[in-house]
Amino acid sequence: MAHEYERRRTFAIISHPDAGKTTLTEKLLLYGGAIHAAGAVKSRKAKRAAVSDWMALEKQRGISVTSSVLQFEHQGMRFNLLDTPGHNDFSEDTYRTLVAADCAIMILDAAKGVEPQTKKLFHVCRMRGTPVVTFVNKLDRPARDAFELMSQVEEVLGVHTVPVTWPVGSGDLFQGVYDRDARKVLRFSRSEQGNEKRAEVNLSGIDDPGLKDLLGEEPAAALKDEVELLDGAGEEFDLERFLAGEITPVFFGSALTNFGVEPFLEGFRELCPPPGPREAAGDVTVTPTDDRFSAFVFKVQANMDPSHRDRIAFVRICSGRFEGGMRVHHYRLGKEVRLNRAEQFFAQARETVNVAWAGDIVGLYDPGLFRIGDTLSTGGAMTFDAVPRFSPEHFGRIQLLDPLKRKQLQKGIQELAEEGTVQLFIQPGREKDPICGVVGRLQFEVLTFRLQHEYGAKISFDILPYQFARWIDGVEDGAEGAGELKARRVPLAVLDVDGRPVALYRDSWELDRSVRDNEAWTFHETAPIRQMG
Ligand code: G4P
Repeated sequence: MAHEYERRRTFAIISHPDAGKTTLTEKLLLYGGAIHAAGAVKSRKAKRAAVSDWMALEKQRGISVTSSVLQFEHQGMRFNLLDTPGHNDFSEDTYRTLVAADCAIMILDAAKGVEPQTKKLFHVCRMRGTPVVTFVNKLDRPARDAFELMSQVEEVLGVHTVPVTWPVGSGDLFQGVYDRDARKVLRFSRSEQGNEKRAEVNLSGIDDPGLKDLLGEEPAAALKDEVELLDGAGEEFDLERFLAGEITPVFFGSALTNFGVEPFLEGFRELCPPPGPREAAGDVTVTPTDDRFSAFVFKVQANMDPSHRDRIAFVRICSGRFEGGMRVHHYRLGKEVRLNRAEQFFAQARETVNVAWAGDIVGLYDPGLFRIGDTLSTGGAMTFDAVPRFSPEHFGRIQLLDPLKRKQLQKGIQELAEEGTVQLFIQPGREKDPICGVVGRLQFEVLTFRLQHEYGAKISFDILPYQFARWIDGVEDGAEGAGELKARRVPLAVLDVDGRPVALYRDSWELDRSVRDNEAWTFHETAPIRQMG
């Protein structure tokens, strides 16, 4: 390869809890050769314990820090798999992580199809034009009809599907997958060593007379019928449209039994694009080949140990070469900083990183210099508008339980907002009672806990009945703009931390009506995090 970045593949997995993200991750590492037996990534039992017992925050954070990004090398390629927090720690972090990825794998449970969290995450990919590859999982269990699943994906997500593989049977009768391009049937059987090892595979052409011996007469005939239907009715694969996020290639399999995982990894390897260009402010396009180094912070992970508040800032490199100890320009602070103590995360281990390239993610030890959205570069000032704020889905008004702790509260919420744990909104006239917006409800509890334990401010939340926030263009910034929103019967008009007017709505009906009634305004689901240079 002409350049190191060309072999980088940086991706994330989007799915609803329990669809099989952990299992598939493990199997990708197994087939990618990063681990020799599955069961090594993290024990699911341990994960579950940590999630339900979330007050053991340190433990939970320990897990999510080490799993924030996993790297593995496979056939000359360097894969960077970004962890998108799911389950109870589903939060804005989950959305922001997608900003650092060049491609996403969407996992669907074959019995359930598209579920609420898949839908939300897919929507973020759609907004950003991130290409999505679909893996339909759990075919070894009773599954919905594959054609019906494809229609559901198309209807609910509004994306065209192009099956790359096709399941041969399902449930107890699931035998393997048909590779449409090669016109080959891959029949899997479980390894004697169980699901921890690769499944064995036998091959047959779809038209080979031996197919019915391999699969059985009935399954072979059924498969042929389905393939005929598919070839007749299906959409053609088109790379441009895939890269634009308009079509999603679909693979079938079972992460648990490993059936279909290998063809998926092979296909994904071909499909997942290398790092592409990114837009910076001032109409500057940064390409991965640029000599100057550039990167942005998409996640800041606080260490929960209150005695020394060290943090790790995760940066996505967009161009150039990273070197440990290098000096870079920090746009928001307007000064040079040295990047000391950088780490990368291989399968399980954390290692100090000396050199990294566009597409790579490095974790920088953060003495308090970095915020989400910060841009770092060599060769002068530059800023990406890469990481937006996303519309929160839950809102709560802070009630300070000990009025003497107002200062602590102020400091706490400001720092936590900077860290990106929460978004703050101010209702003009009620400046003393800020409103917090979060994507996942657990964040309220995390916030309550952290404000008390790290800042000494005891609070509770009054949960508000809003579900949507929209940043409004077309009115002035500040209280005046919020006043205009109020006059136009927006259910609740507030300001974000930069003083931008934001409208809150209880449901999509209220939101739709407001959009209809206020044609002069533009409604934004996300807002750039402004970096003052
Ligand atoms: P998540 O990270 O997306 O939340 O899902 P995870 O991989 O933890 O999988 C959720 C459950 O689904 C697990 O079962 C897992 O074993 C099971 N699973 C994942 N992929 C498949 C598959 O292809 N087929 C079948 N039949 N099951 C699958 P669990 O009972 O919750 O956990 P465990 O006791 O098996 O560890």
